[in-house]
Amino acid sequence: MSSTLTLAEMLAPVQPGLERMRAILAAELTESGPVGERVESLARFRGKELRAAMVLLAGQAVGNEHPELPQVAAVLELIHLATLVHDDVLDGADLRRNVPSVHAQWDEQTAILLGDMLYSRAFHLSTRLRSVLAAQVLSKSAQRICAGEMEQAALRYRFDLPQERYEAIAGAKTAELYAAACELGARYQGDPALEGPPASPPVGWALELREFGREVGLAFQIIDDVLDLEGQEEQVGKRVGNDVEDGKVTLPVLHVYASASGPVQAAIREAYQGSLPAGANRLEVLRAACDLGPGIHYAKGRAQDLLQNALRRAHGLPDSAAKNTLVRIAEYILRRQR
Ligand code: FPP
Ligand code: MG
Repeated sequence: MSSTLTLAEMLAPVQPGLERMRAILAAELTESGPVGERVESLARFRGKELRAAMVLLAGQAVGNEHPELPQVAAVLELIHLATLVHDDVLDGADLRRNVPSVHAQWDEQTAILLGDMLYSRAFHLSTRLRSVLAAQVLSKSAQRICAGEMEQAALRYRFDLPQERYEAIAGAKTAELYAAACELGARYQGDPALEGPPASPPVGWALELREFGREVGLAFQIIDDVLDLEGQEEQVGKRVGNDVEDGKVTLPVLHVYASASGPVQAAIREAYQGSLPAGANRLEVLRAACDLGPGIHYAKGRAQDLLQNALRRAHGLPDSAAKNTLVRIAEYILRRQR
């Protein structure tokens, strides 16, 4: 874990492709009148563009610099943005990236419709690509993301959730898009004769990079869940303790709960579901009910194991600046604060 480069510095090898992707997105996100005002407000909370960068990096890492890859990355970013706008409605989260979320700035109707519009724009943009591979892969990803979110909602307050089930949900709602980004970067050729049939599973480097993306994405979500318990609001740019408020029992809490005594388990359940004294918040009550330290340590260890696996895969790639960046991204996820 030696690199101390910022994320922007790390992404230098794909800056031209990211610039192209931003230009495509800007063109997609132009509207007039009140709709325009709402669409343009999204620019405030454009994020790290990590998933888009991974399309371009995975491509470069295997010698694929197809001119349509920035457009594939833009489709992916639009889907990602749509999921965030909807996610904040579902989670009742009023802050993201240190600015009010869309429904907090406008209202829920706007957030739902804006999310739908972003998703439709992604769909439309994908129809302008020469091959249907990106549409095929990403429409499947979107289905998995929605299924993951539904399963998560159905399993709120499940303190006995097996770790595999927690990981399957995190894998679907978060890691899927990282996996798809890496698969598409490696596989997209704008020509089914070179890509293999769109519905066929990835093979070779595309499969290896898909797995790399899945492991990085899963580690990202585990760290996100840790930050929700121990992060600082200004640093993470979101409210902390939202998962406890929303009844999401994440890996650190699952671990603590599994080895807690009966009375401590009852206190944990009470922190999530009991009535609250005026002015109290559930995370504070949870912290008073148990020592979250061992759970946080365990979850970070699991994220580290996933990233070690991802690093092994990345090290197997042919030498290139893009390979070095993929390695640094895996290291960055582990030390990320937001
Ligand atoms: C973040 O989890 C989860 C997502 C960003 C996925 C959300 C997906 C949906 C709401 C389905 C909508 C799908 C489409 C295709 C529009 P989190 O809440 O743990 O992370 P957070 O702390 O960043 O909010
Ligand atoms: Mg959320």
